[in-house]
Amino acid sequence: LKSCSLALLLVISLLPVLVKYRMSVCRYPLGMSGGQIQDEDISASSQWSESTAARYGRLDFEEGDGAWCPEITVEPDSLKEFLQIDLRSLHFITLVGTQGRHAGGIGNEFAQMYKIKYSRDGSRWISWRNRQGKQVIEGNRNAYDIVLKDLEPPIIARFVRFMPVTDHSMNVCMRVELYGCEWLDGLVSYNAPAGEQMNLPSHPVYVNDTVYDGAVIHSMTEGLGQLTDGVCGLDDFTQSHVYNVWPGYDYVGWSNESFPSGFVEIMFEFDRTRNFTTMKVHCNNMFSQHVKAFRQVVCYFRSESDWEASPLSFSPVVDEKNPSARFVTVNLANHMASAIKCQFYFADAWMLFSEITFQSDTAMYNTTLAPPKTGLTPNTPDDPTHKVDDSNTRILIGCLVAIIFILVAIIVIILWRQVWQKMLEKASRRMLDDELTASLSIQSETFAYNHNQSSTTSEQESNSTYERIFPLGPDYQEPSRLICKLPEFAQSSEEPDGVPHYAEADIVNLQGVTGSNTYAIPAVTMDLLSGKDVVVEEFPRKLLTFKEKLGEGQFGEVHLCEAEGMQEFMNKEFLFDIPEDQPVLVAVKMLRSDANKNARNDFLKEIKIMSRLKDPNIIRLLAVCIYSDPLCMITEYMENGDLNQFLSRHEPEGQLALLSNANLCHMAAQIASGMKYLSSLNFVHRDLATRNCLVGKNYTIKIADFGMSRNLYSGDYYRIQGRAVLPIRWMSWESILLGKFTTASDVWAFGVTLWEILNFCKEQPYSQLTDEQVIENTGEFFRDQKRQIYLPQPVLCPDSLYKIMLSCWRRNTKERPSFQEIHRALLD
Ligand SMILES: *[C@@H]1O[C@H](CO)[C@@H](O)[C@H](O)[C@H]1NC(C)=O
Ligand SMILES: *[C@@H]1O[C@H](CO)[C@@H](O)[C@H](O)[C@H]1NC(C)=O
Ligand SMILES: *[C@@H]1O[C@H](CO)[C@@H](O)[C@H](O)[C@H]1NC(C)=O
Ligand SMILES: *[C@@H]1O[C@H](CO)[C@@H](O)[C@H](O)[C@H]1NC(C)=O
Repeated sequence: LKSCSLALLLVISLLPVLVKYRMSVCRYPLGMSGGQIQDEDISASSQWSESTAARYGRLDFEEGDGAWCPEITVEPDSLKEFLQIDLRSLHFITLVGTQGRHAGGIGNEFAQMYKIKYSRDGSRWISWRNRQGKQVIEGNRNAYDIVLKDLEPPIIARFVRFMPVTDHSMNVCMRVELYGCEWLDGLVSYNAPAGEQMNLPSHPVYVNDTVYDGAVIHSMTEGLGQLTDGVCGLDDFTQSHVYNVWPGYDYVGWSNESFPSGFVEIMFEFDRTRNFTTMKVHCNNMFSQHVKAFRQVVCYFRSESDWEASPLSFSPVVDEKNPSARFVTVNLANHMASAIKCQFYFADAWMLFSEITFQSDTAMYNTTLAPPKTGLTPNTPDDPTHKVDDSNTRILIGCLVAIIFILVAIIVIILWRQVWQKMLEKASRRMLDDELTASLSIQSETFAYNHNQSSTTSEQESNSTYERIFPLGPDYQEPSRLICKLPEFAQSSEEPDGVPHYAEADIVNLQGVTGSNTYAIPAVTMDLLSGKDVVVEEFPRKLLTFKEKLGEGQFGEVHLCEAEGMQEFMNKEFLFDIPEDQPVLVAVKMLRSDANKNARNDFLKEIKIMSRLKDPNIIRLLAVCIYSDPLCMITEYMENGDLNQFLSRHEPEGQLALLSNANLCHMAAQIASGMKYLSSLNFVHRDLATRNCLVGKNYTIKIADFGMSRNLYSGDYYRIQGRAVLPIRWMSWESILLGKFTTASDVWAFGVTLWEILNFCKEQPYSQLTDEQVIENTGEFFRDQKRQIYLPQPVLCPDSLYKIMLSCWRRNTKERPSFQEIHRALLD
């Protein structure tokens, strides 16, 4: 078999095609998904939280919160955020893969675009550009698909940084993988005179080094470029080809006119002292255009700091018969060196090189394709200078027959698979529909971060370290989950929802500090929030008098307190309807002093967000106590408590309602108005319900957000083993199934809230259904086969109001009304 693979290599090497040897061989995953890259070698500019640290940025991993996410939103012009991988040694990187944060359906952040920076020494960073000079790489379109991109030109580096790029500010999360192989040449840079321009009668040919990543002034220093990009030039250098660039693109060339000494000197620097066997220089030899391979080369070696006195000299035979480009092999005779300086002598007016490779002691590609001992230097399987000897010819013929058989077999298999796949697809389409109900319960489980489950699947996949990725196409996409394949799902996750796209791509933070739900932070608003004009005063703790505990969560408590002299701490714009000297009733959200750093950060973020919300129908942040522990935020509280309890107390008895429909409508309209304000800022509330609305004098309503922290309402939330707690009875189908939270899903929740109000909160939505059945019903909404159950029209509810509710629960998010429309309808 080994000699067969050797023969196969030889067959390939005889093919007169554009040679891309390293490019097609070097495509191994380098260990982000496989785990060979250690956690400590993955770092980042910042992290949103401990569970989205750099080490979770591994492709196809679902650990932590499912990806690396930087701390703040990524702005269009700033390139501050990056995910960095240290490969510990130089690698030849030909392909990169990226993926967003899916987290079993909860995550929806991804990088639409990114740039790559790399470094060989950890200090000089180079921005990668493609062959047309473009830096930005198209990234992901959704949170789950892996997008692979060929790097043209490839990168030779030890450190690689992925830098998310956006066209508007948005939250971004990434998972990545690098593909390539170790850079066994060990070459760190070559310094050479800059390539020149050849003026042919018909057109100029630019033989400069376009992808050189060092400094280019009169000469090239400290970089690598076309001589190491793994692409060999064509026989006819005046032809331009694949890259749509100018003639001569593949070559770096010099004219003897510019070198009175008669030679071009190139200095090569290596990563360490190596024992060199050969150097191979790919030269053009189109003598009809006065281009020939070099006549002589003289190489000097430097090990440690001194140049060896005696150089090595080699004179290949000048070939004036065969005009094809070729590798000229120079025997370096086991010289030890960390730098080599070679003088290439002109044989004609021009000298054009496209690749230079070095073979040294350890420089053997340890792959099954290229076993050592073959006599061929494995990393140049296509070396055209190599002669096939007689003993190989017989093997070659035998193997060719075998290869033909194998090819026929492969073709048969491919054809058979295509037919089979078509059949399967048809069958699965039929089955899918029936299975969705069953898979929904599984789907809901994936909301919890099931570590065991995900790690076993990734283990199975991680065995493929040496399974190379072959596609050379620019856009190879891997379908991930069945659910993503459903055409309807795919569609609905693409559609814009009236809310700009960025609002969806924010961090899902279902469980806030006190176990309560912080507002989702849409990216665009974050910069509003980071403005300097946010003034939240520190309030002296001793002026707070504890009244009662309103609720409690994992990291803190909410207390009802009286605050003395609060009026002095507020801006004049804020009017209390209470005389100056009387204490004000406030809610104090308090972080336990033993809360971890993430919880503290989230708490401070929540303060930042709350401090900017100024609307008559939104609870205001009044002051904070953050100079000492425990951290507190002091918000308004309304004397009538929350709307849920308020309405339950006012439940109509007999025919005699204490609250008129006009009162109910007035309250609903205020909620719509507050939500209108939130949605205008692109805020997504995620937990709108009567329990989160507070009632003041004269039926004034303000929207708050601490429902989840209260035991009273724990039955309203569906606790999935693990961590997520979801108010499923208020959630839209797309929030439950796809993890999409948008203003349109807030509208859905508003419909449920309106239903609660008109029902006087005497029962939970879908009270006759279990949590599992609610989720199943969500599946019916998705399938839309008229089997979904809607909340019934409440007894005292006029038709016009029920119509508003039904419009909030439309399947298509675009067809749901906006809060503006709802507000107007409720005022009528
Ligand atoms: C090489 O030549 C082309 C064509 O003149 C030019 O556009 C390009 O900037 C040059 N590249 C370098 C690195 O000098
Ligand atoms: C370099 O490698 C060759 C072949 O492996 C070996 O014979 C020679 O001793 C090595 N040279 C040094 C200086 O180690
Ligand atoms: C360059 O090469 C051409 C062709 O060999 C020769 O005629 C010419 O004299 C050379 N010029 C210099 C400056 O060496
Ligand atoms: C090549 O792989 C074999 C086992 O597959 C290992 O024993 C050997 O050390 C490797 N050689 C190098 C140079 O990495």
